[in-house]
Amino acid sequence: MAQLLTGTDPQAIFTAAALLRAGDVVAFPTETVYGLGANALDERAVAQVFAIKNRPHFDPLIVHIADKDAVALYATDIDERAAALMERFWPGPLTLVLRKRPNISDLVTAGLDTVAIRVPAHPVALALLRAVQVPVAAPSANPFGYVSPTTALHVQELLGTAIPLILDGGPCTVGVESTVCALTERQAIILRPGGVPIEAIEAVISPVTLASPTQADARSPGTLLSHYAPHVKLRLLAPGEPIPHVGENERVGLLLLQPRPNVIGYAATEVLSQDGNLTEAAANLFAALRRLDAAGLDAVIVEPVPEHGLGRAIMDRLRRAAGNTRRAGNPLGFVL
Ligand code: TXA
Ligand code: MG
Repeated sequence: MAQLLTGTDPQAIFTAAALLRAGDVVAFPTETVYGLGANALDERAVAQVFAIKNRPHFDPLIVHIADKDAVALYATDIDERAAALMERFWPGPLTLVLRKRPNISDLVTAGLDTVAIRVPAHPVALALLRAVQVPVAAPSANPFGYVSPTTALHVQELLGTAIPLILDGGPCTVGVESTVCALTERQAIILRPGGVPIEAIEAVISPVTLASPTQADARSPGTLLSHYAPHVKLRLLAPGEPIPHVGENERVGLLLLQPRPNVIGYAATEVLSQDGNLTEAAANLFAALRRLDAAGLDAVIVEPVPEHGLGRAIMDRLRRAAGNTRRAGNPLGFVL
């Protein structure tokens, strides 16, 4: 099993940085989800990340750096929009897709001429990035397609036998992955809604467009497949659709944004926020999905959330988890 070390301990940071520099992988906390990191300049190390996650090589990784000044080492054409977004949101849950420099390997970027970069806002992640002094490529620390981990224990359960070390930084405060924003064309495009709401990005640069599913497919290969999926079957209700009654012999779970009166018959219920707060709901989402997945249910009914603020990222993850995002069109036929 992976060693689990408290990320605030300087000795743990030293150990983790030494492993990364030696070409090994390390799981570490960020404010969004836990990442599985490798030295982004070391192809063999990056190849391990793909192998451990069983991740297809066409799905590029995000490069994590400690300081926005380092972005110019790995990307070019950093324009005023990029500068303004970095100034406002870094460190934080915003990933920028920029033209890449040749030092970032094709394995990291899946052969694209762009690189996704962010500065995470977690003290343990930042301490690690400063100590290791190389950029760290890190996808979420889960087997490909499954729900992302938001605690060190989740990582231990998912990947503990495959990796040497997990830094524990407590539960992730944001709880959904970073917003991915491409700045490689005149029009800024949100390829993945995430921890920074699109409204907040629009307040800094405009116009901003949210990629349609087909655009996201073409430009952000990782969004091609259904993702974030627990093993149990999810059914996402349409907005306003009443919560169905459950038959006597069924074991059905219910995922609610906030408490509701008169729901009966459900074998397990998860409530994301007592007062319907979308930021709190995002922070609780993945852990709630995992608990429902572990409850031995036949299916889970999911209530949709309003699509503003972090609600957009929540709905994106729920649609993918429910598999009604082009699973049928999945060209490689992954079973998730
Ligand atoms: O919050 C996060 O972003 C977490 C933490 C660990 O930082 N990381 C994360 O990584 O969610 P991952 O690998 O699970 O998702 C990365 C997403 C994928 O949808 C991928 O396709 C997209 O970023 N991406 C990476 N590089 C890209 C590029 N050059 N162009 C377009 N999309 C890119
Ligand atoms: Mg992921």
